[in-house]
Amino acid sequence: MGYMMIDGRKIEFTDEKNVLSVIRKAGINIPTLCYHSEVSTFGACRLCMVEDERGKMFASCSEEPRDGMTIYTNSGRIKKYRKLIVELLLAAHCRDCTTCVKSGECILQELAHRLGVNTIRFENTREPYELDTSSPSLVRDPNKCILCGDCVRACEELQGIGALGFAFRGTDAMVMPAFNKKIAQTDCVNCGQCRVYCPTGAISIKTHTDLVWDALADPNVRVVAQIAPAVRVA
Ligand code: FES
Repeated sequence: MGYMMIDGRKIEFTDEKNVLSVIRKAGINIPTLCYHSEVSTFGACRLCMVEDERGKMFASCSEEPRDGMTIYTNSGRIKKYRKLIVELLLAAHCRDCTTCVKSGECILQELAHRLGVNTIRFENTREPYELDTSSPSLVRDPNKCILCGDCVRACEELQGIGALGFAFRGTDAMVMPAFNKKIAQTDCVNCGQCRVYCPTGAISIKTHTDLVWDALADPNVRVVAQIAPAVRVA
């Protein structure tokens, strides 16, 4: 138990496990992409950054609250860096937002609006990745993945499956099943937890149209076309 100064207000903390929880307790809404209290803390997105009185910035989800701590959640510097992080994420992201299945409920899209990211100054130099449509229920689109690892931790820690993981390094880093397998070749049980936790459209539920295309593409499926009889109007 102790007290922290947050944006000039004295806030008491008790058993909050990180600074982010104390910030939320104070009613301050700072953006996050990779923090979920029910899975382990990963500290990947850095959007929850705050700064202390010395100007040291740190991810509030990954720092324990300490008695006497002073932090600022919304200084000009922090706002500028948060905006830059979203711009960099969008730079390496497929930008078909208007036709994306997640449009309207994508957290990255919402943050871009909220933080005023209207233009992207950086070029996306990555080659487009192939979609994984092998699963009967999910579509994995690596072009929309922001490497937050939310799906990896949900699959591993909540479901105990571990169908997804990190592969490669640096700009080649990806989230995918091990050994370059397709989702259908893993132990995935189609629970959809990865989709629930994915903040973007990198993992989506197959739509009815996707399922019809899958069925038509299967050479073992026999399709019988039915033509409705013409209706004569008297
Ligand atoms: Fe803290 Fe992503 S929410 S680093």
